[in-house]
Amino acid sequence: MSRSLNLWDKAKREGKRLSFITAYDYPFAKLADAAGIDGILIGDSLGMMVAGDPHTLFVSLEQMEYHTRIVARGAANALIMADLPFGSFEESPAQAFAAAARLVKAGAQIVKLEGGAPMLETVAFLSSRGIPVCAHIGLTPQHVHQFGGFRRQGKTQEAAAKLFDDAIALADAGARMVLMEAIPASLAGEITRRLSVPTIGIGAGPETDAQVLVLHDVLGLNPDRAPDFAKAYINGAALLGQALAQYASEVREGGFPGAP
Ligand code: KIV
Repeated sequence: MSRSLNLWDKAKREGKRLSFITAYDYPFAKLADAAGIDGILIGDSLGMMVAGDPHTLFVSLEQMEYHTRIVARGAANALIMADLPFGSFEESPAQAFAAAARLVKAGAQIVKLEGGAPMLETVAFLSSRGIPVCAHIGLTPQHVHQFGGFRRQGKTQEAAAKLFDDAIALADAGARMVLMEAIPASLAGEITRRLSVPTIGIGAGPETDAQVLVLHDVLGLNPDRAPDFAKAYINGAALLGQALAQYASEVREGGFPGAP
């Protein structure tokens, strides 16, 4: 898939399903790109996956900039999306523009920000100034304290209607994509059919235009904290642990290095 957002719109019109994955560094960006993944998200989940934080709130703009740069270096074809981290965009559209511009200069083609209606002005501001935006609604992890944990959203009729309205308003304000996390599949399907821009789902059922998962969940490297909707395609923790144990054992027992 090309980096052109117009081709993502075309893929939506043609009903083609697209894949996104998070990546935080050069080697995994290269692997994801070579595997034919359509989009790479430098998610602020890096706080949890790379830094071992309990949530995403400690991630700084400087961290996001650094990881965006090294991911962008590794991907030749995939669309590069980067998260605006907590505290870098909420105060005003101008604050958001300054932060987003730094991510674009680091290699992002589109920035993602969390929040519904309160972010409409910011989405319009960035979009009209040349920065494509993906709006993230539903379970927005930066609101973990307000939600009282990582909880599914849109469960009542009222909450679902609010998410539906927010999605439409965000797209009308200029969002080029809408990402929906941990909401009912039927609601995600309704929103996807209603919007002309591509939707991305995570824990939101099979009817969104694209799916995204966290790299460490897909590779089985996050077995203790993986959400129930994630799928591990290999048991990476076991495989890598085995390789490391073998190396340690060979060094201890003199099997490595071999004779020159
Ligand atoms: O930061 C992240 O990885 C994300 C995904 C969970 C969508 O926002």
